[in-house]
Amino acid sequence: MKIAVGSDHAGLSLKKEVLKHLQAKGIEFEDFGTYAEASCDYPDFAEKVAEEVVSRRFDFGILVCGTGIGISIAANKVPGVRAALCSDTFSAHACREHNDANILALGARIVGVGIALDIVDSFLGAKFEGDRHQKRIDKISQIEKKYNK
Ligand code: RB5
Repeated sequence: MKIAVGSDHAGLSLKKEVLKHLQAKGIEFEDFGTYAEASCDYPDFAEKVAEEVVSRRFDFGILVCGTGIGISIAANKVPGVRAALCSDTFSAHACREHNDANILALGARIVGVGIALDIVDSFLGAKFEGDRHQKRIDKISQIEKKYNK
């Protein structure tokens, strides 16, 4: 499993914890920035990680900003991305099981490190259940196609 990771300045320190966690678990990853604490714009990192995921060079993405809101909104503009902002472990596994989410977004100003790492584990440990959920994902894709003419 390969994970593309990105954050803005507000998400940098939580992202570093996520990277350490992935490393400790032996999960392959690449950090697409930001690498410094200087103020920067979350859409730049959302777009990079989103492109890596939809191209299938990476299996999943993890994005972190202050709230997780801006970076998830930006990632969801890339067709094929289903980014889920999670602050609890139930949502983290449900978004994989029901929504086939391919990017997890975290808010560094919202969740502490402990819960954030549990959320990462719940997300990566869950599997899409397909079946009735697939037709709903197909409907999401149809909406994307309709508005991306
Ligand atoms: C940066 O200050 C902050 O606005 C950003 O990290 C994020 O929370 C936006 O949604």
